[in-house]
Amino acid sequence: MSIQSEREQRTKAYCNARFGMFIHWGLYAIPARGEWVRSYERISNEEYQQYFDEFNPTNYDPKKWARIAKEAGMKYAVLTTKHHDGFCLFDSQYTDYKATNTKAGRDLVKEYVEAFRAEGIMVGLYYSLLDWHHPDYPAYNDLHHPMRGNEAYKNQGEHFENYVEYMHGQVRELLTNYGKIDIMWFDFSYGEMSAEKWKATELVKMARKINPDIIIDNRMGGDVTAENPVIYAGDFGSPEQMIPVGGMRDVKGNPIPWETCITLNGHWGFDAKDKNYKSARNVINMLMECVSKGGNLLLNVGPDAKGNIPKESIEILQEVGEWMSLNGEAVYGCTMSPLQRPEWGRLTANGSNLYLYIQDCCNESIVLLDCPHKVKKAILLCNGSELSTKEPWNAESYRVGDKKVDFIETPPFSYLNGNGNVIKLILEK
Ligand code: GLC
Repeated sequence: MSIQSEREQRTKAYCNARFGMFIHWGLYAIPARGEWVRSYERISNEEYQQYFDEFNPTNYDPKKWARIAKEAGMKYAVLTTKHHDGFCLFDSQYTDYKATNTKAGRDLVKEYVEAFRAEGIMVGLYYSLLDWHHPDYPAYNDLHHPMRGNEAYKNQGEHFENYVEYMHGQVRELLTNYGKIDIMWFDFSYGEMSAEKWKATELVKMARKINPDIIIDNRMGGDVTAENPVIYAGDFGSPEQMIPVGGMRDVKGNPIPWETCITLNGHWGFDAKDKNYKSARNVINMLMECVSKGGNLLLNVGPDAKGNIPKESIEILQEVGEWMSLNGEAVYGCTMSPLQRPEWGRLTANGSNLYLYIQDCCNESIVLLDCPHKVKKAILLCNGSELSTKEPWNAESYRVGDKKVDFIETPPFSYLNGNGNVIKLILEK
């Protein structure tokens, strides 16, 4: 089998899932200025130690997180088991810098995996390739390390190979200690810190030996769009904070799996002052944009120091969930349609069904151009009622060149604070 068809096989369920929850959580929830706080503010290990000593997430209840995700219609999740600050939420035998040794006193990844799996949600683990805590990770000359340019770290004499061994050991732990993991999300490569610097070939071989079906992102350095991608090029593209204009394709123009990750406010890790939240409507628009371009949306939440997902995030997710419970059919298992994007919204497709997501409602009917098949039936997804597909009496006078035109009655109402309706078109094959 070619690498591409293996990738297609492996990612089938993941692509059908379309909507996932990203969870950024760690010690940085205490300073509450985002997960890059150590780097931005050049905080030393000694200064950062206070957060390790304080960490006591008494409200950590991953079953609650899993319920929130499920009710939002999310089908997979990815948790930061270790972010760039090096703190491990899991019980690793390779370090003392882990949740087990904080007041939390237990393996938080284990509870997450069990809770999400119990809700039937695919489980993903994020693991940072960077590590600002490990003594063998380059500091002084590094681009991002909190101690970059700090003279005291100039002759640290780190042995990077020790770090690589540590990192491989931890990935092995993550993939063996918690049953079958669905997604491994590595983050990230930069400059020389890329590809074989991480011993990426060996790492991926090890991961696939433990679990041949594991889905891996594309942040280890290889080009996921290449004609013959290297083994560590990954299974899907992972743009962040943007939705690629034309989705993602390989160099030959064939669509490839991709997922965009997006924050609910402006931060991944908890930021207590950032109240700049997106609306549920924004989120639904983004989700439908992703699906209409053949991609997934991994939507982030940043739980606070006590382990609570911020109230604002929960409210947005509930509203999204209400919409999903009525319109999820236009999301799950769907992908791009061959038709051009209409001016009133987005199109998704599943076999011979076409889903019309109306963002910009028109008067009495919307117009679908160039649909090669006959429209058998139009149904409003939110209540299952049929809509008329009769041509309006005056349509003849307003043709669009020689394009085939279908008129579909628009629902007379919008609901959920104006969130968009979806019309399902059943087409004759
Ligand atoms: C960036 C950031 C990181 C975040 C990730 C999510 O690479 O370094 O903080 O986890 O994006 O995509």
